[in-house]
Amino acid sequence: MRMYDLIVKKKKGEVLTKEEIEFMISGYTKGEIPDYQMSAMMMAICFNGMNDEETLNLTMSMAHSGDMLDLSRIDGIKVDKHSTGGVGDKTSLALTPIVASCGVKIAKMSGRGLGHTGGTIDKLESFSGFTTGISEEEFINNVNTIGISIMGQTASLAPADKKLYALRDVTATVDNMSLIASSIMSKKLASGADAIILDVKTGSGAFMKTKEDSFELATKMVNIGKGANKKMMAVISDMDQPLGNMIGNALEVKEAIDTLNGVGPKDFTTLCYKLGSMMLMMGGVCESLEDGERLVDDAIKSGKALEKLCEFIKAQGGDPSMVKDPSLLPKAKIREEVLAPTKGYITKIVCDEVGICSLILGGGRETKESSIDLAVGIELVKKVGDYVNENDCIAYIYANDEEKKEIAKKRLLDAYSFDENKPLDRQVILGVVD
Ligand code: URA
Repeated sequence: MRMYDLIVKKKKGEVLTKEEIEFMISGYTKGEIPDYQMSAMMMAICFNGMNDEETLNLTMSMAHSGDMLDLSRIDGIKVDKHSTGGVGDKTSLALTPIVASCGVKIAKMSGRGLGHTGGTIDKLESFSGFTTGISEEEFINNVNTIGISIMGQTASLAPADKKLYALRDVTATVDNMSLIASSIMSKKLASGADAIILDVKTGSGAFMKTKEDSFELATKMVNIGKGANKKMMAVISDMDQPLGNMIGNALEVKEAIDTLNGVGPKDFTTLCYKLGSMMLMMGGVCESLEDGERLVDDAIKSGKALEKLCEFIKAQGGDPSMVKDPSLLPKAKIREEVLAPTKGYITKIVCDEVGICSLILGGGRETKESSIDLAVGIELVKKVGDYVNENDCIAYIYANDEEKKEIAKKRLLDAYSFDENKPLDRQVILGVVD
């Protein structure tokens, strides 16, 4: 078999066989197929697409390009969750202890933030001493004993995707549905869970800008998972403005803790109830979403979920007293109000821009090697649909540097739009695919 012939085939819009896809992925992972040939193939896929069978075969080849995590030593159904990412997305922080406290095993691999979107691992490191750099043995042991563990993605997990993603990033070939779906699902399948819930974000702060594209991506990923014999569900959720009110690592941890105390923001709480009930159903502890929502409600109101977060943080070296007293979390030196420049309804908050403000303050990474300031970020006091008078406080900036604060403040103000007419309501959950 020759890579050259496969490129010609895809260039003509023909379908690649399972064997051809395996040859291409294994050769590329081993360094036998050069970047320039794989770039040509990626571009041909962008122009001519892949059908469902090719997409599944591509995913399976990438998943098997490295270690496949074996979770068979954990009893019961292991449920994993993946979000396609966005601004203020601290869902895993609240959702995983809720679900684990109801008896469903959470064995999850997470990543760090890059650019304007945050990552679960960075957020968790707001708890001093906490680490996700644990061995597979500890990971499995923690899931078996306390029902929850989160570890960092190892280098040996889907190495083909790591290489391909870096290549796609610099060859303008990221935005193809089959390539995105196979990239995400290869990592999820290699992580070994029995059931996977996907939170596909949609809107200005998401990968997928339109509801239609988000449904298409969700459907592709659900089909891939089912093709690999996994239980699958997906929600399409709003990322046209940041999720919740807090953006920034320790700030988002605080908001997740507030939510576990029953005093979280409405949009974020709604999403946690929905995803939580779906995960509980997939984990076999309830028969219907209504029952699942009741279990989530009980986990929060009884304090069980908060207790589970303490156990989880402690088991991975973190300080659980910060869960009980979030004022111990990293704190910025400066907290400054951002005032409304005019009166009217807030009609838009450009989501990416809020993420970039947090990045400017030091809360995100410009490159993989940058270090981050866990304390800084933004609190949105007013969001889309709220009415404000001139000089009302619409947000707070949390900063450790005057100059960065000024830049972020100006940019944050520019991200807001006001109008005398109330905008249409937008729900946080826009659909479900199962
Ligand atoms: N996230 C991934 O992991 N891969 C993609 O291709 C896009 C988003």
